[in-house]
Amino acid sequence: MKRLFLFLAALLACAAVSAQSYVPAPENLQAREDFSRHRLGIFLHWGIYSTYGQGEWYLQTGQLKNEDYAVAAQSFNPVKFDAAAWARAFKDAGAGYVTLTSRHHDGFSMFPTKASSYNIVDGTPFGRDVVGELAEACAAEGLRYQLYYSLLDWMREDYPQGRTGLATGRKGDQQDYGHYFDFMKTQIRELLTNYPNVAALWFDGIWDHDEDPDFDWRMPELYAYIHSLKPSCLIGNNHHKEVIEGEDFQMFERDLPGENTAGYSGQGIGTLPLEMCQTMNGSWGYRINDPWYKSVKELVQLLVRAAAKNSNLLLNIGPMPNGELPPQSLERLAGIGAWMRGHSVAVDGTTSTQIPEQPWGVTTRNDESLFLHILSPDALPVRDGLCKVVVPLPPDTKIARKDAVSLLTGGRLGYELSKDGFLTVTLPQALLEDIDTIIRVRTL
Ligand code: GLC
Repeated sequence: MKRLFLFLAALLACAAVSAQSYVPAPENLQAREDFSRHRLGIFLHWGIYSTYGQGEWYLQTGQLKNEDYAVAAQSFNPVKFDAAAWARAFKDAGAGYVTLTSRHHDGFSMFPTKASSYNIVDGTPFGRDVVGELAEACAAEGLRYQLYYSLLDWMREDYPQGRTGLATGRKGDQQDYGHYFDFMKTQIRELLTNYPNVAALWFDGIWDHDEDPDFDWRMPELYAYIHSLKPSCLIGNNHHKEVIEGEDFQMFERDLPGENTAGYSGQGIGTLPLEMCQTMNGSWGYRINDPWYKSVKELVQLLVRAAAKNSNLLLNIGPMPNGELPPQSLERLAGIGAWMRGHSVAVDGTTSTQIPEQPWGVTTRNDESLFLHILSPDALPVRDGLCKVVVPLPPDTKIARKDAVSLLTGGRLGYELSKDGFLTVTLPQALLEDIDTIIRVRTL
């Protein structure tokens, strides 16, 4: 009898689990494929904080009170904002998608919303719908469009206070997550219905309650709501933890999957599509005193390393308060674009390989080719002006008979294949490129 009872209990538990299990719709699975097809995305952190030129956390780091900070809305008038010009610059850089902050931790919405007048149309002299204008411009350029949405809010009284934004002067006597949750649902419904090309939602801020593990964000409920409104909508969350049920891609902040130099990424790598986000300089929101821009070479090499780990790179720009992209960012975009025009086939539409990272670089592959990316040519042995690139091929690799090994930019290369599966390519040192010398190995 006891056994039967245990068996029935186990059966019920399984049923409960499977009742909860998220089954992505076919259009969602398709969207995941689309998401990974282009390895470069552009992240945009733009809000009234850009007016201060001190990054998107200035409400907290500047120790401002909410009503003082909010004055920035009254002077936010980015008259030079030209969504079409932005989208063209992203497209020319070789990007496949764009992720814009629709609302950051300061609670300011960059779209008209019935849920709060603290938004760009009702609360600024600018009065234009940035989320909507960029949605249209991205659609016109064939760029996928995604929106960042902060789960935490330093401004609203109904948001239960976490560990950040505690000095903004909220009274704190109206904290009510149920009320706040409904507010978020209203906004998310607006975003998904008013802008039909929103392909993904990118959540952030859940870590605000990580010192309070009993706090229930009701994420599965929110995710189910999103998928009920739009099954294809991809959901990602910058929680720095293992994937939560209902998510469709996994993200890593400031680190490649599997690395943790920034301290946000102890989590394991799951099976969902991957994305890492990184800043072009050191800041997300526009920061006037941050000139530490990464070079085009560093950024392209990061993109290549991401692709080699099966990951996208979401590369951030903090637009200026006048509506323009910083000139340093435009310069980087142009440089990346120039590189992508000759080389994107070795990153877009590729996956990782089973070949471990080599001292000289990394590898990617598509259905027809294996690509050897020489990122650190100094690690190659050289003799009489010839470099040797040695790579262990995965056991099932079959090399094409004709024109098997060449430079991606043109020119056949000599090679040898050893019995134990090592490919050795001979490459004239003079043909090495500064950013990434790509050897294409055609496979069957
Ligand atoms: C962090 C920062 C946030 C930024 C995000 C982007 O969560 O707090 O301001 O938007 O990283 O990855």
